[in-house]
Amino acid sequence: MDGFLINGGPRLRGSVRSSGAKNAALPIMAATILCEGETVLHDVPHLADIESMAGLLNRLGVAVTRDADGTMRLRVEDEMNCQAEYDLVRKMRASVCVMGPLLAKRRKALVSMPGGCAIGDRPIDLHLMGMQKLGADVELQAGDVLLRAKRLVGAEMFLGGAFGSTVTGTANVMMAATLSKGRTVIEAAACEPEVTDLADFLNACGARITGAGTPRVVIDGVEGLTGCEHTVIPDRIETGTFMIAAAISNGEVVLENARLEHLLAVVDRLRHVGVNIEKDDGKVVASSSRRLEPITVTTQPFPGFPTDLQAQLMSLLALADGNSIITEKIFPDRFMHVAELSRMGARLHKEGPTVIVEGVKRLIGAPVMASDLRASAALVLAGLIAKGTTRVNRVYHIDRGYEKIEQKLAALGADIQRIRD
Ligand code: EPU
Repeated sequence: MDGFLINGGPRLRGSVRSSGAKNAALPIMAATILCEGETVLHDVPHLADIESMAGLLNRLGVAVTRDADGTMRLRVEDEMNCQAEYDLVRKMRASVCVMGPLLAKRRKALVSMPGGCAIGDRPIDLHLMGMQKLGADVELQAGDVLLRAKRLVGAEMFLGGAFGSTVTGTANVMMAATLSKGRTVIEAAACEPEVTDLADFLNACGARITGAGTPRVVIDGVEGLTGCEHTVIPDRIETGTFMIAAAISNGEVVLENARLEHLLAVVDRLRHVGVNIEKDDGKVVASSSRRLEPITVTTQPFPGFPTDLQAQLMSLLALADGNSIITEKIFPDRFMHVAELSRMGARLHKEGPTVIVEGVKRLIGAPVMASDLRASAALVLAGLIAKGTTRVNRVYHIDRGYEKIEQKLAALGADIQRIRD
């Protein structure tokens, strides 16, 4: 398994371009199951999760081809198969996004129930409740969920759960409702930019969706969807990770293809830490040359601080001048990075869903283990500034969600190399 060797120290300088968003591209790819004709997607990142989704769609009869520049073409060729098997769903939970499109278009979906994962319990009860509201029969069979419906019928539903809205749950119901008879209203819908991007894509295919990006999404069913051409939004989590990379290394990084309106809470928190984030001539510049102030931060659904940047922020706050408090409200067990950062000298005190981060003067390089995608990014960030060498093992996690991260960091001056086992 590949790892990264990082020698801490260099200040990052230069420009880096964010790739298209993984979490926008995945449901949009799944949505092509609904479409007649070819879809052309631009800025689809080259990532392991994207390859997994392309593999799943292939099995579901969708021909997927791609160019080196990130353009992907998808076209449904065969509608016989309706099954997303355990080996795929286990590897990538976003596979569950084929459920809504399969049910709406092929009247049947057999999707393996995702089990637990490194960031905690990840139930799909809200997805299933949404499908039932649209009129689907839902049956559990040996670890798979079988959903069937003659024709889905629009309905009103409240899609909030104990931890707030659901991103892929909203996406799934929205996709299914595009071909339902009549009007569907989703209350407590997820407002994440990736949901809005999916709605924009579906509308370009002929769907009638309004309110995406707000907690109330209204979908008026149509008879059919065609393919379209669409550019995936920039990856806000990648942009945020590079902002933190600039800050932790006391550097100055120009962020290309960045959308600050998708990062309002992140910019707010980072500015409180003392990071400069400026918009100059259409470009976003993140820099830091001063001490880091401690802060309090709580992860929340959009537009709150994203859980997908919690681990990376912890690496930065580990070096702040005082005690910070991080509370995880989306995935209360998403703290696998705590033990690994502690191996590098971070002083972290975990109490339930909260970690008190006692700032230290320096981190020290160590062999550490990546446990999930964002935790891995946090370890890489810590390695950029740690004294000595950090070896991050099992970086296949990071390859799932960050396109060429070591090449992008090296181009900014980081001393990082991939080692192959
Ligand atoms: N939840 C339920 N029932 C459900 C669905 C979710 O209780 O049926 C709970 C979850 O357990 C969690 C909360 O609701 O406590 C929010 O989960 P959500 O459904 O929004 O997460 P998701 O759709 O499975 C997406 C991203 C994640 C990101 C979360 C939160 C994709 C493919 N994945 O997951 O991304 O952390 O939203 O923003 O869009 C990542 O990229 O590293 C990643 C994990």
